[in-house]
Amino acid sequence: MTATAALHKFELKKPATGFGKSVADELAPLYDRMTNHKIVQVMESGKATKKLIHGLAKEFLPVIRGTYRRMALRMQHIPPHDCDLQAALLTELQEEIWHTPMYYKWCRAVGMSLPRDFTNGPYVPETYAFVMFLSLSSSDRSALEESCGRIIDDEFFDTPQEYSQVGSLLQTVSATGLALYGFPPASDRLGDAFVKNYGLSKDEAEWWYEHGSVDMEHAKLGLDIIDRYATTPFLQRRAKEAAWLSLELWLRQWDAIYAKYGN
Ligand SMILES: [Fe+2]
Repeated sequence: MTATAALHKFELKKPATGFGKSVADELAPLYDRMTNHKIVQVMESGKATKKLIHGLAKEFLPVIRGTYRRMALRMQHIPPHDCDLQAALLTELQEEIWHTPMYYKWCRAVGMSLPRDFTNGPYVPETYAFVMFLSLSSSDRSALEESCGRIIDDEFFDTPQEYSQVGSLLQTVSATGLALYGFPPASDRLGDAFVKNYGLSKDEAEWWYEHGSVDMEHAKLGLDIIDRYATTPFLQRRAKEAAWLSLELWLRQWDAIYAKYGN
């Protein structure tokens, strides 16, 4: 028996709707803010202090080391019969296994002492907010609909709330996938900055290149899922809201990092 006999090609079967592009267009200013964040500019200029580099490394760690767990938890929101979608998200999950050790490799290369430099005091509140939002959106099926639905939807202001599995899927993919759309260009620039200005090898900066433009495929998958599965105004509102909130929280975390550790 040959090994190729059992190969199956997975592809999402639901038809494309064009909604994904409208979300990406609307979020473009936020992607742009992330790509050109002050942290990226200062690293590129070579003027970042050790305090800023270590501050970024520390504050970003809870986001990084939670990713594998979040990606594992979000599998629960996929309708059980949809094996193509399961396969697509499982591929992302298995790639993520290596990323936390890769991140530690970069932290050591910039002179951090592990774990002491991660455990030497509290994190900025924005780190807790961002991480809690990401974790909740992937683990708790109703958390986002409960917290946001009651705020922005007239019909749910003081009435029973509707939950749906597809709604949860869209929110977790939006929260943990679309936010990545503005990040890959920033990650490429940061990787180059560490090599050019701070004496790292490409291997030591691997985490940043791994999440650079080569990672765009993942952002595209997130957008493709939103595009195909958000087929009603209710679901589209959920998807857009989660993507927007995730980006805002990410940007505010980076703003807070710069405010605390910046030059
Ligand atoms: Fe990763």
